[in-house]
Amino acid sequence: MTTILGVLASGSGSNFAAIQAAIATGQLAARIAVVVYNNPDAYVQERAVAGGIPAVLVNHRDFRDREQCDAELVRVLKAHDVELVVMAGWLRRVTETFLAGFPGRILNIHPSLLPSFPGLHAVQQALDYGVKYSGCTVHWVTLAVDQGPIIDQIAVPVLPEDTVETLQARIQAAEHELYPRAIAIVLQERAS
Ligand code: GRF
Repeated sequence: MTTILGVLASGSGSNFAAIQAAIATGQLAARIAVVVYNNPDAYVQERAVAGGIPAVLVNHRDFRDREQCDAELVRVLKAHDVELVVMAGWLRRVTETFLAGFPGRILNIHPSLLPSFPGLHAVQQALDYGVKYSGCTVHWVTLAVDQGPIIDQIAVPVLPEDTVETLQARIQAAEHELYPRAIAIVLQERAS
């Protein structure tokens, strides 16, 4: 059974690329039907096009409010027959409209070991607090930001000399391993 994914990304799309690679190597029985991005200059658009995957811009600045924007997101994802929504660096909060469109079928990745350091600047928050380990989390999306049920996590050490950039790079490398692994868990649960 091949599950149809829709990826939402706001920036570079390195997580999208990791998921795409996992599909290409047969690690995931899935297909990415569409990439939706919200920033016109997001590099993920180029990555998607290079991979032959349709990329659709849904720019929140073009909408009256969040609900209107999310209604368009749901429309685009459904038009591509998406079954599982994968937020990969999607820097937007979701509304009831979005959740109702894909109930229990939206994943997100966050650059901390939730429930620690939810919200923006998670890497900076971890450094400021002085934790010795941080990491990344894939979780189900609910209305409460970064608080949905956890699917999987990877911990990484925080080194004394770390800056936001070096810790972020270590966490991102872990994300690229974690997201395909977490999606595999979800697909396995769907199949059984
Ligand atoms: C990831 O580190 C994610 O945790 C954060 O944004 C980053 C997205 O990176 N929220 P990319 O666009 O997948 O390269």
